[in-house]
Amino acid sequence: KDRLGGATRRQKPHIYGNHETWHNLTREGDTGSVEGAPLTTDHSFSPKCEITGKDALSAYARASTSQCQQEIANIVCLHQAGQLMPQRVARYCHLTERINNRIYRKGTSGLQWNEPDAGVVLSEKPLRIVYMLVVHGRAVRQLTRLIKAIYHKDHFYYIHVDQRSNYLHREITQLTERYVNIRITPWRMVTIWGGASLLTMYLRSMKDLLEMPDWKWDFFINLSATDYPTRTNKELVNFLSKFRDKNFLKSHGRDNARFIKKQGLDRLFHECDSHMWRLGERPIPEGIVVDGGSDWFALTRSFVEYVTFTEDTMVSDFKRFYKYTLLPAESFFHTVLENSPACGSLVDNNLRVTNWNRKLGCRCQYKHIVDWCGCSPNDFKPQDIARLQQLSRPTFFARKFESSVNQEVLDILDAHLFGEPPPETPGLKGYWENIYSSVEGMGGISDVDMTAYSSFIRMALHELQGPEKVKRWTACRFSPSGFPSNAELYFYDDHFQGYLIMQEVQSGETLEIWMMPRGTLKVADQKGVTNRIQSLEVSSEWDPKERIFRNFGGLIGPMDEPVAVQRWTRGVNLTVTVVWIDPTYIVAASYDIAVDSEADYTQYKPALTRPLRPGVWSVRILHFWEMVAEVQFLVIPLTVRNKKPLQSGDSWLHSGPPLGQYMEQSFQALSGILNLPPRADIEKEANKKSEFRSKELENWTDDSLRSFWSVGGVCQKTVSSSCPSLPICSDTHWSSLSRDPKSELGPVGQDGHLR
Ligand code: UDX
Repeated sequence: KDRLGGATRRQKPHIYGNHETWHNLTREGDTGSVEGAPLTTDHSFSPKCEITGKDALSAYARASTSQCQQEIANIVCLHQAGQLMPQRVARYCHLTERINNRIYRKGTSGLQWNEPDAGVVLSEKPLRIVYMLVVHGRAVRQLTRLIKAIYHKDHFYYIHVDQRSNYLHREITQLTERYVNIRITPWRMVTIWGGASLLTMYLRSMKDLLEMPDWKWDFFINLSATDYPTRTNKELVNFLSKFRDKNFLKSHGRDNARFIKKQGLDRLFHECDSHMWRLGERPIPEGIVVDGGSDWFALTRSFVEYVTFTEDTMVSDFKRFYKYTLLPAESFFHTVLENSPACGSLVDNNLRVTNWNRKLGCRCQYKHIVDWCGCSPNDFKPQDIARLQQLSRPTFFARKFESSVNQEVLDILDAHLFGEPPPETPGLKGYWENIYSSVEGMGGISDVDMTAYSSFIRMALHELQGPEKVKRWTACRFSPSGFPSNAELYFYDDHFQGYLIMQEVQSGETLEIWMMPRGTLKVADQKGVTNRIQSLEVSSEWDPKERIFRNFGGLIGPMDEPVAVQRWTRGVNLTVTVVWIDPTYIVAASYDIAVDSEADYTQYKPALTRPLRPGVWSVRILHFWEMVAEVQFLVIPLTVRNKKPLQSGDSWLHSGPPLGQYMEQSFQALSGILNLPPRADIEKEANKKSEFRSKELENWTDDSLRSFWSVGGVCQKTVSSSCPSLPICSDTHWSSLSRDPKSELGPVGQDGHLR
C-alpha cells in the first residue's frame, strides 16, 4: 500500500550513478511545495549530471513530487560542479584575531545591567519595537493572550501565520483588524520546522517592515505563539533604550567545530515538498567566522536595514549559503553580524530563557520533516518558574508555553506582570482549543472524528428528549442540520474535560454540547513490587517530549495505531507483561517491559495488523501473571469511510484483521492463564455487527461511545422558543462561547495597553 500520504509514487526515473546506493525509503508526509510551487508531472526529466553521494541519491529517490525531484537534481548538479556555494566570503568586521590560521570572533561579554533600572522611565525618546510573531497551529487563545501581554499602542506587531494554519489565520485576522499597529503578512509561506523557508519568511517580513513608512520602529524582536514575556513592556523599552545600538543574539557557547557538525552546517539541505532534504556535505566558506545558537533575537533597525538592503557581497553570499541550510535562522543573523562592519554591536544574550531538557526534547522527533535529528525546548510548568528567577543576565521572554499542557504557569506570570486578576473573573481556569471548524471544510477531519462528533450530538440530543432529564431541562426535541460546525478541546484547571461540539439544528438554533470522558482504569490491589504503577493509558499521538497524548480524548478507529503508556514511581527493578485483548477475546499482543528503578514512563506501540476490531479492548499489566492494572479503550465503529456513509463493501473495516491475527505470532495460548471466556459466540455476534449500516450502525457506535463518554451539558447560543429552559452558552461556564477575559482583545486603554 502506498505510504506516501496520498502522493503518487512515480516510476523510478532514469538516473545515472550507482544504483546499489538507491534507498527504497518512503516517508509519510504531505505533498505540495514551499509557497505552493506548482506540482509538475514531468516524467521525462533526467538529471543534468551523474548524481553521486548517498544522501543525494536517497533524497532524489524519496522526493514525492517530480517538481521537488528536479529541484534536488539541479541543486546537486550545481553543487557537484562547485557552482552553488560560495567558497570564500569577504569579511568586513575589524575585530579579529587569528588562531591556528582560523579567524575567531573576539569574545563578547554580557552587559552591565542593574536590576533596579527596570522601573525607571528614561527621559530620552523611548524607542519603538516591532514584534514579529511567527505562528502556526490552532492555539488562538494563547496567541491573543500573548498579544494582550505585549501590546502597547506605541509598538508594532507583524504576524506571519504558517500557510497551513488557516483556522488560526482567519481567527487572528478577525480579532486584530481594529488595531492599526497590528498587521498580518499579506503573503504566507509553508514554514516547516527547521526549514529554509523560515529564513526566507524573516527576510521578506523585514523588507516589508522597512518599507512601511508609517511604522517607525527601532528594534526587531521575534516571538512565536509559545513565547511569553517575563517582564513588562516598559521594562523592556527602558532596557533597550540604554542599549540602542546593540544586537542581541545568543551564541551556542560551545566549541565551534562541534556546533557546525551538530547543527549540520557542513551539510547541504534543500526544502521542497514540505521537507528538508539532506543532499550531502559542503565546506564552510573560507575567510569568515560561522556562528549560531538561538533563532530568537532582538535586532536594531540599522542591522535589519543592512541585512535587507546592503550590496556587500558578504550578505548576498551568506543568503546563498543559508538558502540551503537546516535551521537557518539559528545561524544566519549571527554569522552576518559577526562578519559585518557592525560586529562590535553583538551582545551574546538573546534576552530570553529557554526551557531546555535535552533528554526529553532531543528525540529525533522531526525526522519526518527534516533529514536530521533536531531538538525542541520543553513547555514551562509551575515547578520550572524558579529558573526564571535565578538568572544573572537580563531576560524579558521565556519559551515554551502551551496552555493545553499547562496554563497555570501563564497565570503565575500574568499575576507577576499585571497583578492578580479581580476575583470572580470568568473563565480563569478554563482553556479552549479548536480542533475542527467547518469554515475550513471537511479536508482536515478524519473519519474517526467525524464519526465521534456526530455520535456525540446524537447522544446529547437523545438525552435532551429523554424522560430522565425532565428535571434538568424541559424535554426538548432537536434534529441536527448537517454536520457539526465546530469542535473544541476543553480543559479546566489543567485537566482535559472533554470535547465541546457545536451543532446547528433544524429549527435554526445553534447548540453546544459538552462530552465528558469516563475513566476506565482499574488498578489491582497493590502489594510488594507492583505498587509502582501510577497510570496506564491508551491513545495515539504520544508526544515523548511533553509526555502526553496529543490525541487528548483518545478517539481511536480501526485504522489507528494505539500506544500504551505506563507511568511509574521509582522503586525496585521489575519486568511486567503487557497484554492487549480485542473485543472478541483475541490476545492481540503480549510483550514484556523492563521497568528499571529510575523509569518514570514506559511506552510501546505494538505493530498490530489493522483493521482493529471495533469494540472494547483491554490492556492488562501483569507481574508473574498476576494482574497489576487494566485499562479499557474503545475502537470506535465508524459510521463513515472517506467521509461517506459506510457501504455494503466496507464490512472488512469492522471485521478485524485477516484470519483474526494481529501479529505474525499467535498469543491465543495465553487465553487460559488470562481467564478469557470462550470466543465462538462473541465472534459470531461481532461478525454480524460488521455488516451493520445506517441506523443500526449508528446505534452500535452510539452505544459503544456511551460507555466511555457522558453528556456534561447542553447550551444554546440564543434563546429559542423551542426550548426556553436550555441555558444560554454565553452564561455557561464550560461553553466555548462563554467569557474568557484573559484571552479577549478589547479596546486600547488610557495607558496604551490592552490590559
Ligand atoms: C526551538 C527553537 O526555536 C530553536 O532555536 C531550536 O533549535 C529548536 O527548537 P521549537 O520549539 O522546536 O523551536 O519549534 P517551534 O516553536 O515549534 O517552531 C519554531 C518557529 O517555526 C515558530 O515560530 C513556529 O510557529 C514556526 N513553525 C514551526 C511554523 O510556522 N510551522 C511549523 O509547522 C512549525
